[in-house]
Amino acid sequence: MNEWITICAIDEIPVLGARRVARAQGLDVAVFRTASGEVFALLDRCPHKGGPLSQGLVFGSSVACPLHNWTIALATGQAAAPDEGCTPRFAVRLEGSAVQLRADELAQHALEHTRPLAGPVGLGRCGSAAASCSSSPSTVAA
Ligand code: FES
Repeated sequence: MNEWITICAIDEIPVLGARRVARAQGLDVAVFRTASGEVFALLDRCPHKGGPLSQGLVFGSSVACPLHNWTIALATGQAAAPDEGCTPRFAVRLEGSAVQLRADELAQHALEHTRPLAGPVGLGRCGSAAASCSSSPSTVAA
């Protein structure tokens, strides 16, 4: 299954904001829109303690988590140093004005993550076996 599903129109995502996409199973996906019109999609869960990144502030190509202000790169899901952690990313593309996510990723990607994350960071290091941050292509620019 490699279908793309239209989530919304690009205009339905605020500039420097996000739209949350609910999933039947697993945590929601946050789809972000930058000032330059790029779109990115990450699991809606901060690698620190599970904060909802969809409610964070987008700046440049990053988002600041609303809970403790970690900076997460939208293209990779990687936390900016000195913080460490990574949230899984999802493939996203623009088809005309339609924002699309992959059906297989919505159904199967990053289902191992839960919220909130209790205690020290256990999941979410980029490149570790537990993380799935690098297993998906990033974004298709507008
Ligand atoms: S939960 Fe995101 S910075 Fe703490």
